[in-house]
Amino acid sequence: MTGPATSLSDRKEALVDGEFAFTTQDFKRIAALLYDQAGISLPETKATLVYSRLAKRLRALGMRSFQEYCVFVAKESSVDEQQQMLRALTTNVTRFFREPHHFDDLRANILEPMADHVRSGGRLRLWSAACSSGQEPYSMAFTVLSVWPNAADLDIRILGTDIDTNVLATGRTASYDEGLLEGIPASTRGQSFERDPDNRGAWRVCEAARSLVAFRELNLNGPSWPMKGPFDAIFCRNVVIYFDEPTQERVWTRFAPLLTREGRLYVGHSERVGATVTAFESCGLTAYRRVGGRA
Ligand SMILES: C[S@@+](CC[C@H](N)C(=O)[O-])C[C@H]1O[C@@H](n2cnc3c(N)ncnc32)[C@H](O)[C@@H]1O
Repeated sequence: MTGPATSLSDRKEALVDGEFAFTTQDFKRIAALLYDQAGISLPETKATLVYSRLAKRLRALGMRSFQEYCVFVAKESSVDEQQQMLRALTTNVTRFFREPHHFDDLRANILEPMADHVRSGGRLRLWSAACSSGQEPYSMAFTVLSVWPNAADLDIRILGTDIDTNVLATGRTASYDEGLLEGIPASTRGQSFERDPDNRGAWRVCEAARSLVAFRELNLNGPSWPMKGPFDAIFCRNVVIYFDEPTQERVWTRFAPLLTREGRLYVGHSERVGATVTAFESCGLTAYRRVGGRA
């Protein structure tokens, strides 16, 4: 890890007053590590949040200062702690059918035009990049099932990826507390979910949807992505907002060759694919298609 240069005054200045000493230099080291690891940019205005989220880690590790924590977490052998730090500092907020207009667009502009092709054995591939605990790829699966109720018998796959292995584990269980089902209309809940026999009060995504989705660990900021695509649609929502502009541009640009010519990229409500990314053009509210692709 190569942290930004610090002055002597940086090193001494206490950023947050509390149980543990936390200086500007500690903050910069943590921010540099998170940037190197995941491409996430942490402005200094987040210092209090960083302190409160990581203070729990210091207590769990029996450490007395952030300086001690920074030395430990930066070690190459501290892979587990780096994951713990990432989990503590990222947000996994998600829900079923979040930003529902994307699922309507997916259905109208990707799935329905492909209905006959897929029914007669053609391939459909969808990717939820930064899928958190699975609500997004399962919402894609429910949308797929609304077009092809026998989707499990067709050549359809949905990939869900995330950097955080804990959220992927939740996605694989496909089991959600009742309160998390608010995006699912009560009228279709019984078709999409079944009561989870292993977890009272929780609902499990139906087998037909589960069978379409596979979860894999993937760092969007990592050196290589193993998937070849092409995907008919990519959802990458509410994650690049934490990246700086060059990292955002790099991620958007990497998606382009992985989409079919007719494919679409859906981004989060406060995200945009900027004009500097010449591979994409807007085709709806936070929806993009490849330049030169078909409308
Ligand atoms: C706020 S959630 C978004 C979930 C979902 N896409 C949605 O819009 O509801 C952001 C997710 O991005 C993941 N994440 C953060 N940095 C990442 C990176 N470099 N590569 C892949 N996933 C990352 C986090 O672990 C988290 O699960």
